[in-house]
Formats: sequence, structure tokens, C-alpha cells
Amino acid sequence: MKLDPAPLATEVWWARTSAADDRLLRLLDEEELARNSRFRHQADRDRHLLGRAMARLLLAERAGCPPEKVTFALRCRSCEEKERTGADEGTGPGQGPHGKPHPTGPAEGWEVSVSHSGEWVVLALAFGVPVGVDVERVSAARDLEGLAGYSLGDPERRAWERLPPADRVGAFFRYWARKEALLKATGLGLSGGLRRVLVSPADADPALLSWSGGGGPEAAALLDLDRGEEYRAALAALTEHPVEPEVHSHEETVRLLRSPGGG
Ligand SMILES: CC(C)(COP(=O)(O)OP(=O)(O)OC[C@H]1O[C@@H](n2cnc3c(N)ncnc32)[C@H](O)[C@@H]1OP(=O)(O)O)[C@@H](O)C(=O)NCCC(=O)NCCS
Ligand SMILES: [Zn+2]
Repeated sequence: MKLDPAPLATEVWWARTSAADDRLLRLLDEEELARNSRFRHQADRDRHLLGRAMARLLLAERAGCPPEKVTFALRCRSCEEKERTGADEGTGPGQGPHGKPHPTGPAEGWEVSVSHSGEWVVLALAFGVPVGVDVERVSAARDLEGLAGYSLGDPERRAWERLPPADRVGAFFRYWARKEALLKATGLGLSGGLRRVLVSPADADPALLSWSGGGGPEAAALLDLDRGEEYRAALAALTEHPVEPEVHSHEETVRLLRSPGGG
């Protein structure tokens, strides 16, 4: 008899951007502060600040160290692959440090992923298993047809076009969030190519169906996260174990940010 594998311990933490507070800036290192000050809009600064502050406080708690001891190495697998194959598409090391933050130092071994959209910041956390999270605000104002051409694979596009027009906007962002969560889990990011990653139809249970061109994960758990009608969000974990995340609300995140380690 084959036993079901135990669920992977995963955490999801939500925060509204209203939780950003200048006192949290002291949790950022020099490079992060420099990046933070380069954003032109306050909303972008707030989202970036919250993502980094949440990551550092949570990892410090898990690793049992002060927040300033938690460090990150940024790695973009898309750029690493381009470097390896000699392809040059105008991205790469020239554009400075970027990519998925990998905890180093006392928190090494933990995996995190951060996403921001509209008024929400979300962070996913697990030990020893790469995770990717994505939140997208549903926005009808954008050029949906153009975005669909850029991001949906052929079978996804056909299924999407069969939907009643009123359902298409929400479904599109459902596809996008699922695909981007997977691409972020692998560290490829959007440059990894949204069309390469095929997922189940937006109205079906989330699942990774195929990954063309190589570089895909051996196993992936994918699930939708609920953030109301205005948003679509998804979590991916590169594991064959089932994933049942412990979801923490904005209020819990605010308590974390106001804890002695926080602001
Ligand atoms: C960041 C990216 C994953 C998508 O960005 P997005 O949808 O605007 O943003 P999200 O809020 O969902 O995610 C941003 C977070 O993803 C993380 N991230 C960045 N690159 C990543 C990668 N390759 N894999 C996983 N996570 C990544 C970072 O933590 C980032 O947060 P931060 O900017 O506050 O540090 C990225 O692939 C991207 O923007 N690509 C656009 C093309 C580009 O810039 N190419 C040049 C570099 S290859
Ligand atoms: Zn890159």
C-alpha cells in the first residue's frame, strides 16, 4: 500500500500596503534601501518595503536570529541560463542584481517568494522546497487580447476564447497568476516565458499540465489563493507532497511588523 505523502508545511502571509511604515526601513540592508529609494511612486516603495520587512522578520523568527542577520542572494535563473547558452536578449547582469531572493546566513534552507499588486503584498514561505507566489489585480482596462497573445499557450487561448465575455477578464488573471507562481517557484521569473507553462483551465482545479522547452520542475503543487473578486492569486511549490498552506491575514502580519523585532 502506498501511503499518501505528508502535506508540506507552507505559510502564506498577506498584508495591505497600508501596513507600510517608515520605521520598517531600518530592516532593509543598504542595497535594498538603494533600490527602495529608486522607485518613483510611494505605492511601489511601500510594496517593496513590506515584502522585504515581512521576509526578514519571518525568517529571523524561524532561524532564531536577529533580523539584521538574515541576508539574501538574488538569483535570476533566466539570466543564468542566457549566460550559459551565450544568448543575449538585452537582459542579464548588465541590469544589476535582481531575481528571486534566496535566504543566506542563519536562514539558509528556507525558501520565500514575494508578490505585490494593487493594495496587496503576499509572501510564501517553506523549508527546503522552492515556492512561488503571485497576486494580480483584475484589471479590464488593459489590452486583454494583446496580453492573452503574449501569455497564454495555444490550448489555454482556445479554452479562454470559449468563455463568455463577462468571465474572460477574471479567467485571464487566474491563468496569469497560476503561471507566474510556477515561474517564480523555479526562479525563472517572467523572462522564463509564460507561454511555455501550460496550466489547467481557469474554471478547473489548478494544475501544471506541461512545460515546454525544458527547465520545468519534476513535481509541482499548484493552488489558488482567495483574495476576493478584485484579485487572483496562486501558490506553487516544487514538491510532490500536497500543499495546505497556513494562511495569515493582514491583521496577523501587522502584529508581526509591530513585534519587538519589527517597527
Ligand atoms: C519579478 C518578476 C518575477 C515578475 O514581476 P511582477 O509581476 O512585476 O512582480 P511581483 O510583485 O509578482 O514579484 C516581484 C518579486 O518577485 C521576486 N523575483 C524577482 N525575480 C524573480 C525570479 N526570477 N524568480 C522568482 N522571483 C523573482 C522579487 O522578490 C520581487 O520582489 P521585489 O522586487 O520587491 O524584490 C520578474 O520576472 C519580472 O518582472 N520580469 C520582467 C522582465 C524583466 O524585468 N526582465 C529582466 C530580468 S530577467
Ligand atoms: Zn534576469
